[in-house]
Amino acid sequence: TTGGLLDQHGRTAKDLRVSLTDRCNLRCTYCMPAEGLDWMDRDEALELTELQRLLRIAVTMLGIEEIRFTGGEPLLYSRLTELISYTASLSPRPEISLTTNALGLARKAADLKAAGLDRVNVSLDTIDPDHFHAITRRDRLNDVLVGLDAAHQAGLRPVKVNAVIQPGINESDAAELLRFCLDHGYELRFIEQMPLDAGHEWQRETFITAERILELLSARFDLAPHPEHRGAAPAERFVVNGGPATVGIIASVTRPFCGDCDRTRLTADGQIRNCLFSHGEMDLRALLRGPSAVTDDEAGDSVIAQAWRDATWGKLPGHAINDPSFLQPARSMSAIGG
Ligand code: GTP
Ligand code: 5AD
Ligand code: SF4
Repeated sequence: TTGGLLDQHGRTAKDLRVSLTDRCNLRCTYCMPAEGLDWMDRDEALELTELQRLLRIAVTMLGIEEIRFTGGEPLLYSRLTELISYTASLSPRPEISLTTNALGLARKAADLKAAGLDRVNVSLDTIDPDHFHAITRRDRLNDVLVGLDAAHQAGLRPVKVNAVIQPGINESDAAELLRFCLDHGYELRFIEQMPLDAGHEWQRETFITAERILELLSARFDLAPHPEHRGAAPAERFVVNGGPATVGIIASVTRPFCGDCDRTRLTADGQIRNCLFSHGEMDLRALLRGPSAVTDDEAGDSVIAQAWRDATWGKLPGHAINDPSFLQPARSMSAIGG
């Protein structure tokens, strides 16, 4: 009844990914439909004080060392700056990062940095304005580019860029996107599309694999495997043109990295997921708010911490994307939090 977040396959979760909302101001085709989703009610989502309590428990009782805020789009969460300040005040201070589409980041980057944000990962699949519109269904490429620049200027380093490549849409843009990131000092990672889209349209036969991405890039760049140990990171890195710049590939489907996973997830409505692909969740919100809510003291904190440990213990050894019997989880990407 003490200790960290261990599972029965020998892994320990040290990295917490917190989804702050399922809402988003883009409509990426691989994530959600044009009309959006059936959003969570506002009162279903955790409040600032509830989030603060769970973050404190995660850091001070469960050994969480890194906290990433995600969404949907986390910049749409109105109390983000306060939440980051609080997180930075915890001891030992966790590393704090944000995964965002960067809309509105230009205005907020400096404040977020001052509040304690360490770094950002920005989703950007192409720098071709027409292709950007085809993918996100919005004309906001320029806002993303100024957001990226502001993040870099504000000292949120490294700035990473996440790109999902889709066949026939932005395949031809991959090398140019890498050129752009090299020129601006951003660390680009290409992501294999995973079966987490709300429309359940992902297809094994057509998604763009790591192998295909490497082939596309190798036509214009010299890539060599990065010598550093990768650890629990999803990205496999390659040194570009002799270095020091690198490019990453997150090959969740064709080169799974579940064996080294150190992640645990909290959804905006207060559920613990031990995996992106898990089917079960642990309802911490019910513990916080339920009819038999835990007390607002150390004893209550212990109950919550133990529920989180229990949720972690049963984590499966890996996702089953490549099994014939694979079943996509009920929640899609924006409601899980990447
Ligand atoms: P860094 O610490 O900056 O490397 O962050 P990250 O790459 O872990 O996080 P980010 O939010 O940028 O996610 C990039 C991609 O990795 C997204 O598509 C995530 O869904 C995916 N990803 C993150 N964690 C996991 C995981 O545990 N399993 C799988 N399959 N994919 C993951
Ligand atoms: N497969 C892989 N990555 C995805 N993302 C969103 N949906 C998917 C998917 N189905 C990416 C976003 C963002 C990150 C958190 O996850 O582009 O960069
Ligand atoms: Fe929004 Fe991210 Fe989903 Fe795109 S992938 S619609 S930016 S939550």
